[in-house]
Amino acid sequence: MITTTNVEEQFSKTMKSIARRADLKAFVEQTPAIYQLLQRAAAKYVTGENRQDGLEVGRKLADKGYAISLEYIGENTTDIQDCEHAALELTLLIHTLAQHGIPARVSFDLSHIGLSIDSELAYKNLTAMAALARQADVELFVSMEESAKTDAILSIYTKAAAVYPNLGITLQAQLNRTAQDLTDISGRIRIVKGAYQETEKIAMPRSSALNERYIQLIEQAIRKGHRLSIATHDESIIDQVIKRGWIHEPGVEFEMLYGIRPDLSSRLKKAGYPVRIYLTFGREWYLYLCHRIAEYPPNVFQTILDMTEAGAADPVQNYE
Ligand code: FDA
Repeated sequence: MITTTNVEEQFSKTMKSIARRADLKAFVEQTPAIYQLLQRAAAKYVTGENRQDGLEVGRKLADKGYAISLEYIGENTTDIQDCEHAALELTLLIHTLAQHGIPARVSFDLSHIGLSIDSELAYKNLTAMAALARQADVELFVSMEESAKTDAILSIYTKAAAVYPNLGITLQAQLNRTAQDLTDISGRIRIVKGAYQETEKIAMPRSSALNERYIQLIEQAIRKGHRLSIATHDESIIDQVIKRGWIHEPGVEFEMLYGIRPDLSSRLKKAGYPVRIYLTFGREWYLYLCHRIAEYPPNVFQTILDMTEAGAADPVQNYE
């Protein structure tokens, strides 16, 4: 029997596959009319294609009382010059934040700065950025990618975090291995559900069981004394965190993606809880847009509206 839930689950899986299709991405990038339409839809979640766009939105949200994360979007970069370019862009971002005294966190994928070519290159770029960020008092956060890369990401992070305490790592609640990874890891932690399509052998799909696991991971991280970003828009998890008093623990905060549930971010901030908004900028927004639609299939209607003039509102206005 066809149900709305079945269709949404199937749609979500398909969108995650579309996100990984290099041929479709290339087609979008080479077809100006389609590129421009989708770019308008992406503006709901991505601040713009340049560093200045991210900084401008970041300043506005900081003025409203939010903490900020900034990501220069990109992953699976296989050209060495593109990796060096990404590392340079992130370095310039760290410089600019330090120069203007903007207290933001910088986030990135290790496969954007070399992991898809060679672990050593990723480590070299990560530690060069971490050294600069430490001087500038900027926090760097490593994102988590598909499960095929988890071991490599954790190994590079662990080696670098032993030297640079200003580093943090993202862990995915959906992976069965995460409770063990959390036991082994040190430093600052961000817990997310996980955006990638993984097999049921190694991961848990969206469900109340996954939410329970997420709560257990939060408890484990807090007991271990980690500084912790609870990065979800799931109100049932957020309610538990407030109810159990965890949000008052030192260094614990909520973190949400720009453009998603600004009403919830606004409500939590107004109630006095620490809220960080995760901003992205850059030209590599195709995969990011696909993931945001996959996570919440009704977004496809909004995407179509956003491609028309009528939907093109400034997302910052939705943050109070
Ligand atoms: P879930 O997907 O179950 O959604 C719960 C509710 O939130 C939905 O019912 C809906 O109301 C709302 N919601 C969620 N997504 C929405 C959307 N796109 N549009 C509108 N409403 C939406 N992933 C990863 O694999 N590696 C990483 O490094 C990161 N990094 C990261 C940083 C930060 C700060 C955040 C907030 C998220 C990530 N993610 C990530 C993404 C994460 O894994 C996950 O895919 C999304 O956060 C959505 O999951 P939720 O926890 O919100 O729950």
